[in-house]
This record gives sequence, C-alpha cells and structure tokens, in this order.
Amino acid sequence: TTERTLILIKPDGVERNLTGEILSRIERKGYTIVELAMTTPDREVLAAHYEEHQGKPFYEPLLEFMSSGPVVAAIVKGDRVIEGIRSLAGTTDPTVAAPGTIRGDLGRDWPGTVQKNLIHASDSTLSADREIEIWFG
Ligand code: CMP
Repeated sequence: TTERTLILIKPDGVERNLTGEILSRIERKGYTIVELAMTTPDREVLAAHYEEHQGKPFYEPLLEFMSSGPVVAAIVKGDRVIEGIRSLAGTTDPTVAAPGTIRGDLGRDWPGTVQKNLIHASDSTLSADREIEIWFG
C-alpha cells in the first residue's frame, strides 16, 4: 500500500549538519520526498504534535528542545513507508538503537535524557494524517 508519513529532522540533526545524510538514507531506501520545509516550530505547533505526551515528565524539556532551533519537516511517500521509516530510524534511545539505523549509526544522547535522537517519524496512518495536517496544513 502506498502511504504518506511525516518525518522531522530534530534540531540536533540540523545543527550537526546531518540533514543531507538523513534525507539521503530515506531516498536510497526508495522512498520519495514529496514536501520539504525548514522551520523553527512554535509552542502551538509542538503542543499539537506532541499531544499524546502531554503531562509526561519529558514533555516540557521536549518542547523546549524542539523549539530551540530549525527543524526539517518532510512528507515522505512510498509502499509501507510508515513502518519502513520507523525501522530506518531505530528505537527511541540512540545509545541502544541498532547499528545500521539512523539513530544507531549517528546518534548518541547527551547526559541524562533520551531526547536528541535526530529524527521523528509518524507511528501509524492515523498519526501520519494528523501530523501532516499540523506541519503542512
Ligand atoms: P520520539 O519517539 O520521536 O517522540 C517522543 C520524544 O520524546 C522522543 O522521540 C524523544 O525525543 C523524547 N523523549 C525524551 N525523554 C523520553 C523518554 N523518557 N521516553 C520517550 N521519549 C522521550
């Protein structure tokens, strides 16, 4: 099934000049970037995006981090792309994410939190539709 998903290159990825590397991995896998934008998101966008995490202990630091600099937002299209990009990204904690994944190869977290993990990718068709609407309207 052809799907669309939303990815974000988080501020740590942009700051470390990994935008090209991350987008390249996505393209080399065979997925197509159909929309691309760079923006420093405001609180409102991030609150909508991270709705499900509201109230969690990492919520405020997460919003702080995500609004700390530019992010790259993209809509990516392909067969089973939602599952595929989650797999390319690797698990949340970059320290233990499998080698071969974006987080596993390129990420390590700075002391104390699991936050600077380079990329966000929608986890379901429902979130993909919702997040695409938030970032691209
Ligand atoms: P992601 O899975 O893309 O979406 C939630 C984000 O919250 C996660 O990446 C991390 O960047 C951040 N985060 C910070 N602390 C935690 C934690 N303890 N568990 C899960 N996510 C966390």
